[in-house]
Amino acid sequence: MDSRICVVVLSCLFGLTCADPVKYVDCGSATGKVTMVDINPCASQPCQLHKGQDYSVNVTFSSGVMSTTSTAVVHGIIAGVPIPFPIPVGDGCKSGIQCPIQKQQMYHYQTTLPVRSEYPAIKLVVEWELRDDDKKDLFCIKFPVQIV
Ligand SMILES: *[C@@H]1O[C@H](CO)[C@@H](O)[C@H](O)[C@H]1NC(C)=O
Repeated sequence: MDSRICVVVLSCLFGLTCADPVKYVDCGSATGKVTMVDINPCASQPCQLHKGQDYSVNVTFSSGVMSTTSTAVVHGIIAGVPIPFPIPVGDGCKSGIQCPIQKQQMYHYQTTLPVRSEYPAIKLVVEWELRDDDKKDLFCIKFPVQIV
């Protein structure tokens, strides 16, 4: 067995990081291109987000533009209505991205998604955008989650 696969399998067995790429839909990445979305922990899909727990989000993307800033905008879409979803750090440049963002370079946007205990236990779609200097989307992804 490939040693990388082996590590993943062993981590899964011990309930550690068992990061399967998250199935997402691109919702209009204009100035960048997403290659992978990871949410941890997320053992099955749609990801089950437990109230009171923190999740790490890791979006791998390449940029098609130069940008000195990057701003995350997150919404939870409930029954078709986008509702702002607060995240602790909205600045992409403080979330694993070294700014200024360079053209044709690959980045890992890494942040934390806290699931507050007062959230309702529902299924929803999370829409995550990262905007460049011109407020265009370096990426826009959507993925379903279930709050439990
Ligand atoms: C994010 O994903 C990339 C690509 O799989 C990986 O190299 C990097 O270590 C990940 N970062 C974290 C904090 O998990």
